[in-house]
Amino acid sequence: MRTIVMTGGTSGFGELTAREFLATADTRLLLGARGSAPAGAEAVPLDLTSLASVRSFASALSDRLGSDEIDALILNAGVNPPDVEGRTSDGFETAFAVNHLAHYLLARLLLPRLAANALVVLTTSGTHDPAEGAMVPPPRHANAELLAHPERDPEHDAKPRTAAGRAYSSSKLCNILTVRALAIQPEAAAKNLTVLAYDPGPTPGTGLLRNAPTIGRIMWQTFGSLLRRLIRRFNSREAAGGNLAAIALGKVHPPAGHYYAAVRHDELTWLEPSELARDDEARDAMWSDSASMVGLQP
Ligand SMILES: NC(=O)c1ccc[n+]([C@@H]2O[C@H](COP(=O)([O-])OP(=O)(O)OC[C@H]3O[C@@H](n4cnc5c(N)ncnc54)[C@H](OP(=O)(O)O)[C@@H]3O)[C@@H](O)[C@H]2O)c1
Repeated sequence: MRTIVMTGGTSGFGELTAREFLATADTRLLLGARGSAPAGAEAVPLDLTSLASVRSFASALSDRLGSDEIDALILNAGVNPPDVEGRTSDGFETAFAVNHLAHYLLARLLLPRLAANALVVLTTSGTHDPAEGAMVPPPRHANAELLAHPERDPEHDAKPRTAAGRAYSSSKLCNILTVRALAIQPEAAAKNLTVLAYDPGPTPGTGLLRNAPTIGRIMWQTFGSLLRRLIRRFNSREAAGGNLAAIALGKVHPPAGHYYAAVRHDELTWLEPSELARDDEARDAMWSDSASMVGLQP
């Protein structure tokens, strides 16, 4: 029996990934969810805007697992707030807290429950890389303290949507730095874990732009296939969800030395992340600063 634990499997392309897991023989799916989950999945309550909820989830999950171990941990949930004014119950900017910090804590809490040779995947975004030329402004730095409290950043963006876009892309940079840092932790090495970042590429038809201005939101959510005909680099939800499932189910493996999977024109590719994402000092600082924020030892 293969055991998969996932966040972000209740809507968007992640729901398609979850359904593929559920259609796979001998596979048990435990979904961290704040609402309902696809039939057949074992839903365990999780609200990523609260570190207390992350801790309760990890503990409830541990009880559910009993003596079973986790074969694949898929951390796919994400949000794209309209501005950087929102703060989680722990006082951190929402995109940073949900997309990065909550998943960082979850990965660390569940590390002891991972099986030997298990897989961990964090969903990132090509927006983290200035070279991608995305419509979202790229990160300016990877300073966790300033990302958690954007008002303290002397160079913070004045326009709410620019600030929000940069907070989102920066949180996705944090995901890649976390992947790189987790992979070199002694416990991860001892278990021979594979730790990957996954970029679905721009994929309309999901709820990610629910906070966007009306026309953009409706186009994104409802007219995904029309958008894909107009903008060739947009991916289908099926490709975004299917490639994630293929990685998680071990149907594809990263080429040696690669840890950044990115869907381009519906096809899975293996890329180099941005220069800042490859920076070792930024990686180590992100790991230890995040540890302080969640009250763990680095
Ligand atoms: N679509 C794209 O173009 C694109 C591109 C690059 C990266 N991504 C990334 O891909 C991932 C999935 O995005 P999507 O486009 O499929 O968006 P989506 O349709 O909005 O799905 C987001 C998922 O995250 C869950 N989630 C959000 N906030 C949560 C919270 N506080 N606690 C627990 N779960 C929460 C949602 O649960 P509910 O069902 O309860 O809302 C949902 O399952 C995200 O990490 C996103 O950043 C997307």
